[in-house]
Parts: sequence; structure tokens; C-alpha cells
Amino acid sequence: MARSQNHASFPAYRPRRLRAQPALRDMVRENTLTPADLIWPVFVMDGQDDAHPIASMPGVSRHTVDRLPALAAKARSLGIPAICIFPYTNPAFKTQDCAEAWNPDNLSNRAIKAIKSAVPDIMVMTDIALDPYNINGQDGIVRAGEIVNDETVAALVKMGESQAQSGADILGPSDMMDGRIAALRGMLEQKGFQNVNILSYSAKYASGFYGPFRDAVGAASVLIGDKNTYQMDPANSNEAMRMIARDLSEGADLVMVKPGMPYLDICQRAKAEFQVPTFAYQVSGEYAMLKAAAQNGWLDGRQVMLESLMAFKRAGCDGVLTYFAPEVAEILLRKL
Ligand code: PBG
Repeated sequence: MARSQNHASFPAYRPRRLRAQPALRDMVRENTLTPADLIWPVFVMDGQDDAHPIASMPGVSRHTVDRLPALAAKARSLGIPAICIFPYTNPAFKTQDCAEAWNPDNLSNRAIKAIKSAVPDIMVMTDIALDPYNINGQDGIVRAGEIVNDETVAALVKMGESQAQSGADILGPSDMMDGRIAALRGMLEQKGFQNVNILSYSAKYASGFYGPFRDAVGAASVLIGDKNTYQMDPANSNEAMRMIARDLSEGADLVMVKPGMPYLDICQRAKAEFQVPTFAYQVSGEYAMLKAAAQNGWLDGRQVMLESLMAFKRAGCDGVLTYFAPEVAEILLRKL
């Protein structure tokens, strides 16, 4: 972007003049954060009228399906446009072929139906990856120690179809297999789900920041090996642009960079190069770091929550998946 150097020099130019009072700062602020920028990831578990706190994510719990309508109604009333469902799958349902992933009555699909029937005007986003259903904890099907691509894509398509059938508004493939966006888009067209959106986890890195999430969905203890043969090398930036271009060409409507805060350079580059709806995932480890430091009194929790989310907007993101969504939406609404 070209910058015009047309200001005077000191003392005629005193930049502090524009910062001198709150009303003026409000008036010249370049970016805004609103509840409409937030997607709220929610963990779901079996059971009735129950919640289970996640130790490594203070303030976040898994909830039973019957509690989701109230949570969704609250989120919508706060102006949050979308909830993203992550299931804690009963270990007994984890298999080599991951068939629970496309069971029309699996936990995730029951959650979608419960929310959409009670609060139709909130959007439900899903996660498409096999890790909650895989005995190996991997996002793809494992054959002789290898995460096999094409067979996984076929499974992901069945999974996506069951989610669309359950009423999902946005499918979120987080698996990083090759060819999955084209396959999912083809299925959606063919099965009459022309209006279902795909928010592709296009630039998803093999990150240590997912640790608390894997606790939350019960995948940490079962994961055999790492995810480095499909998730991206944190050293790469050009590759992220290739992944985004590829996913857009295959029919993604929205794209995502994940994790968020350590990858703001990727967010900024993505928005500048593609000018499409661009999202970041402020992942579990980022949430845990900020919460833990706040609990210790080392950081002002409220200030860093707001600052971290504004940083995504400044970098060019249209929105953020964040576990802070309801907490921050309440603060933002009170400020209006
Ligand atoms: C599943 C998935 C993961 C996250 C979202 N979807 C974990 C992983 O890839 O291991 C991480 C989210 C977070 O850390 O908050 N594929």
C-alpha cells in the first residue's frame, strides 16, 4: 500500500494530538472488533444436562447436547453469527475405519440438529477430519503406518454429507488431505446442498499450540505419531498461498489460517493476495496461554483478549474462531 508523506514536520505535526482524548481515538480508529466477527468453537459430549470443565482451558467446558440450544440462543443474542461443533467421542466408537464419523446419529450430527431446530438463525459450522473417530488419533485413515490420502477423502465426503444432511451451514475441513475441497464441493452440488459453505482450513500448520484441544476432544492420549505428513511446516509462507489458491480453485468459499497469533503474517499475506473472506483460528494453546497468565496475575486478561482479537482484524481477517467469543461479545456489546 502506498503511504503519502504529506504531513508537516514537528511541531506542526504532533501525532499525539490525535490520541489526546477517548472520543478522538474512537473517531480515528482504523479497525473495529464486533461480535459479528466471532465464531465460537464448542465442545460436545454424551450425557444429560451436564458439563465437564477442561483443565488446560480455564473457563471452557464440554457440554451435553441438551444444553446446546440455550448456549446457542445466548450466543446469538450476543450477536455471534456461528458456533463450531467439536465432539468428545466415546473411546468405544473409535475404530480403524472411522465409521462413526458419518453415522447420521453421531454426537456431532445430533448437536447440529439440536441447535438448528432450536435456534435456526445461528449458523452451525462443523469440523471435517477423522481424529475424533480414529483409533490412531490421526485425521486420516492409517494403512501400514501411512496416512492414506484418497481413501481418507472418500471418508471425509461421507462425513460432510452426514453433516449437511443434519443441517450444517458451514463445513470446516481441517484434515489437510489433498483434493478434499473438490470432492466435498462435488458432493454438495450433487446432493442438493448448493448453499452449504465450505470454510477450508487451508493453511493449517503442524503446531504445538493444539495441545489443550486434543485434551478437550480426548485425542491427546490416543494419537500415535505426529501430523507432519499433512499439516504444514511452520517455516513456510509461500506454501500457505499455494494451499489457499488451490482450495479456492476447488470451491472453498472462505479460507482459514491456523493457528492465529503466531501466524499473523500469513493472515495478512492471504488477505492481500486473495481478497476473499479470510479467517483465523485463535487455537486452544493461544487461549490457554492468555488465560493462564491472567490467572497468575501476570497479564490483564481482558485487555490481552481484546488486543489479541483486534490484531486479527488489523492483519486483515474478516473473523476469528475463538474460545473467548461469548466473553468478548458481552464486553463489546456493553461498550456500544
Ligand atoms: C482436528 C482439529 C484440531 C483443531 C481443530 N480441528 C486439532 C489437530 O489438528 O490436531 C485444533 C483447535 C485448537 O487447538 O483449538 N483436526
